[in-house]
Amino acid sequence: MKVIVCKSSDEMSKAAARIFAERIKKKPNIILGLATGGTPVKMYKELIRIHKEEGLDFSNVRSFNLDEYLGITSEHDQSYRYFMNTNLFDHININKANTHVLSGVAKDPAAECKAYEEAIKKAGGIDIQLLGIGGNGHIAFNEPGSAKDSRTRVVDLTKTTIEDNARFFKSANEVPKQALSMGNGTILEAKEIVLIADKTSKADAIAKSIEGSPTEQVPASLLQAHKNTTFVVDKDAASNLKKQYEAPTSGCCGCK
Ligand code: GLP
Repeated sequence: MKVIVCKSSDEMSKAAARIFAERIKKKPNIILGLATGGTPVKMYKELIRIHKEEGLDFSNVRSFNLDEYLGITSEHDQSYRYFMNTNLFDHININKANTHVLSGVAKDPAAECKAYEEAIKKAGGIDIQLLGIGGNGHIAFNEPGSAKDSRTRVVDLTKTTIEDNARFFKSANEVPKQALSMGNGTILEAKEIVLIADKTSKADAIAKSIEGSPTEQVPASLLQAHKNTTFVVDKDAASNLKKQYEAPTSGCCGCK
């Protein structure tokens, strides 16, 4: 795995956005895997800036999001569909029909998950997957203990995740208790993976994921088995790492 330690959260966001921009330029009909949460917001802002100022073209891009809360509609302001529209899709020239987010109100959630897996396969698989990380090491909503070969399915959220995500709702009581989520196995099939993390609240999970033994108890540590994964973290999220890692330079992300 490649690890890039950035000076600040802003630099982390710019470095990650640059990786995505370069991949989109190289393959205009790329399949993106996208993530939600607080961490990617500034990265998406930077992609919007690159679109507006440098003409980055999203017209042939297709995307699949990692997860969605069960039981909330796409219009709910905490749904991940709403998040993606307001933080990215509404500001770039992507065709919304080419953007996929699991439906939180599907009549048959299991069938919704199965159809999602099939749609990813039919599209040719995810070229580059963005991930954040939960304080407990979860990726998407694959909580500790999720199998490494798990697929898109309905999952129960842990108490920690509900408490972590309560900041986006009026209270912890309003946070859905379940979600639909791509599995660890689904994520590991992406051709390239970029995980971003900032803040000291992620330092423990980041150290376990990068320097600990791979275990289903820390789902992000399973990425060690993936051939093309880059962690882009700020110095706070890197503060528990024991080894030295590279700092971003021009060309750090493979762009020249
Ligand atoms: C949620 C999402 C994850 C995300 C995590 C961290 O649980 N399902 O995909 O990585 O939150 O979010 P944040 O970036 O807000 O810390």
